[in-house]
Amino acid sequence: MSVTHLGHIVHIAGSPDVTGAREALTTFSDGALVVDDAGAITYCGPRQDAPADPTGSVADHRGSFLLPGFVDTHIHFPQTYSLDAYGGGQLLEWLDSCIFPAEARLADPEFAAQIARDFVTARIRSGTTAAMVFGSAFPDAQDALFTETRGAGLRLVSGRGVQTVGPPSAAPLMTSEKRAIELCTAEIDRWHGDDSSLLQVAIVPRFTLSVSTETLHALGELYDDVRGRGVYLHSHLNENNRPGTGEIDAVKSLFSVDSYLDTYDGKFLPGSQTGGSSLLGRRTIMAHAVHCTDTELARMAETGTSIAHCPVSQQFLGSGTMPWRRTVAAGVNVAAGTDVGAGDEWLIPQVLGCAFKVHLSEPGEDAIALHPAELLFTGTLAGARALDAEHRFGNFDTGKEADFLVVDPTRWEPLERLLSKGIRADDDEMARDQMLFALLLGMREPAITEVYVRGSRVVAPS
Ligand code: GUN
Ligand code: ZN
Repeated sequence: MSVTHLGHIVHIAGSPDVTGAREALTTFSDGALVVDDAGAITYCGPRQDAPADPTGSVADHRGSFLLPGFVDTHIHFPQTYSLDAYGGGQLLEWLDSCIFPAEARLADPEFAAQIARDFVTARIRSGTTAAMVFGSAFPDAQDALFTETRGAGLRLVSGRGVQTVGPPSAAPLMTSEKRAIELCTAEIDRWHGDDSSLLQVAIVPRFTLSVSTETLHALGELYDDVRGRGVYLHSHLNENNRPGTGEIDAVKSLFSVDSYLDTYDGKFLPGSQTGGSSLLGRRTIMAHAVHCTDTELARMAETGTSIAHCPVSQQFLGSGTMPWRRTVAAGVNVAAGTDVGAGDEWLIPQVLGCAFKVHLSEPGEDAIALHPAELLFTGTLAGARALDAEHRFGNFDTGKEADFLVVDPTRWEPLERLLSKGIRADDDEMARDQMLFALLLGMREPAITEVYVRGSRVVAPS
């Protein structure tokens, strides 16, 4: 039995890259999205042309928007309570003074169970139907995360954060190499599903400064073993360049590499004498990539590695701004990430609004005014592509799984005012673009009234 959802449909159709998003922007103000028993989309278009199904039912969301579910390609589960943590400055100080101690609290299984419920609830409130989630060091906490996510019916790719070296504040999060590999292997065996599953696992070295060259080698061996099973790889790259005390200088001097990316690509990995293996690929997402060289960007494009772009976090930690034009021109897929808790917004549209502002403020000819369709693309289809799951979700093409949100402007009055009273051009296309821009930037959590994954409504933990 099919369900026909009625509403104002907005999505990026087909399979464009970001430069084609504008042409691919598709809206049906009086639209219908028909979803079959298996949760697959069988029709997306004008209501009047929707196929009649006498045995089916209708969910009337008219007055609301139907948008593809948001995809967050970088968010830290153990930092659910660490937004707006004041810890004296930039990345390494903030990790040391606020984050490592906060993450150590997840060693307590009761605390971990509570934070997992709150994390899943926050994802539902913000309409994040799919996410690459940077996990906890502690297996019980990861079990709680996977269990709560499964109960809710959201999509999840996650893996425990691997740390084998670090400052004293990180000691509770650290293990030996051998133990790290055992724990990653156990997590994969327990939770990694095939591509029909909502739950999948990533190997997650925290960042280069949290692992030794031996750990990188061991993780490379593990990844060589499991990448054929569709396991993901996730980490941070070139985030913060504070001269002298910054992450990037530290990586280069400690690891004697010319570029940060080299630490994830060949040099320390198995077979380095014969070209080496790599942690990069179509199932690898690198967060930030603010300070990449052209060579690093070209290598990411070549390997199909995606970037989780996290401008809210980059502002919070003074990390700089990923150069939009140069990164996109290199052919790398750029998706959106909240980076909760350095990012202090759970809502992907808030990340997109921040991206609009920071890229318009890039110096000189680098400045760019991103089109609303490019913003929507970055928060939906690009995220599905980053998860190598574009064939499954990310927009409303027929045959895809129906991951979508109902956004009711009357539930967030400032948004309702923008949409009903905001200025609109006479030109239809411009008026549509203005509507989408106001919708994305003016939306807040209360406007997201229903969230569906694969056609089923997700359920918040009790
Ligand atoms: N680099 C290593 N760990 C972290 C983290 O928790 N947050 C951010 N933003 N960067 C990191
Ligand atoms: Zn992060």
